[in-house]
Amino acid sequence: MTPRIPPILLVGFGKMGGAMLAGWRERGLQAAVAVDPAAPASPGPEVIVVPDAAGIQADFAPAAVVLAVKPQNADASLPLFARYTGAAVFLSIMAGRTVAGMRGLLGEEAAIVRAMPNTPAAIRQGITVAFPGPGVSPAQRALCDTLLQAVGQVAWVDDEGLIDPVTAVSGGGPAYVFLLAELLERAAVEQGIPADLARLMARQTVAGSGALLAASTEDAAVLRKAVTSPKGTTERALAVLMADDAWPALVSRAIAAATARSRELAG
Ligand SMILES: NC(=O)c1ccc[n+]([C@@H]2O[C@H](COP(=O)([O-])OP(=O)(O)OC[C@H]3O[C@@H](n4cnc5c(N)ncnc54)[C@H](OP(=O)(O)O)[C@@H]3O)[C@@H](O)[C@H]2O)c1
Repeated sequence: MTPRIPPILLVGFGKMGGAMLAGWRERGLQAAVAVDPAAPASPGPEVIVVPDAAGIQADFAPAAVVLAVKPQNADASLPLFARYTGAAVFLSIMAGRTVAGMRGLLGEEAAIVRAMPNTPAAIRQGITVAFPGPGVSPAQRALCDTLLQAVGQVAWVDDEGLIDPVTAVSGGGPAYVFLLAELLERAAVEQGIPADLARLMARQTVAGSGALLAASTEDAAVLRKAVTSPKGTTERALAVLMADDAWPALVSRAIAAATARSRELAG
């Protein structure tokens, strides 16, 4: 395969960085250096893994530096990569780290794309929303788009402030869906279903419904109504869930709370 992805420097070879690297390799990666103190095993000959910035060959010239360390490690680690400012685009997936804050660590001229992926990236089913900071060229934005598409769908926003509600909705969203699976399982057990069967039913109902939604062009509401016969059992359950003080209000409050927390953490 002709490598489609130019040399990349990955900072933080953890869950999210590892998922992205796997996606790039599938798409044809020329070369990469991954920096991680745990120095996990290299996944292939085109990837060199080093424990710190000092281990990067002086002549390695990445087109993009992907920042995938925990946000709390940014202050210590980002300045070590300021030497790539001007030559490479920085693609950050760190929660809560603003473009202005990262420019303070990388240099005021740094071209930075700030992105928020989610954990289905591990199976290339993520959704990432990205914001291009000042000075990001169209070619650099296109490269970041390619890098993010390797783990799922990508959308762009022109207002960095939207990354806070994005963090609340799609960044944390998998947790809410997994909670639904937990609660369905628990309620099934309460109704006398054996625990093993309750677990299977809950998992496959959430997974199968997600797959059906993904395969359909219909709105979620249309798919919901298709399951809901008049005066039937589902209608009775939805009357409880959709009461004004139930899910509609709870989900609004939950997303508002997460958005507010994202704003508090921003720096
Ligand atoms: N997981 C999510 O749902 C999600 C969603 C959206 C965005 N994100 C963002 O993605 C980033 C990574 O999250 P993750 O879940 O992949 O975390 P993770 O698995 O902990 O990965 C971070 C990796 O960076 C390594 N590291 C720590 N300090 C470093 C340094 N100075 N230089 C290079 N590598 C260093 C860590 O090593 P040690 O373990 O040895 O410290 C770890 O292997 C976070 O900023 C998070 O906000 C995550």
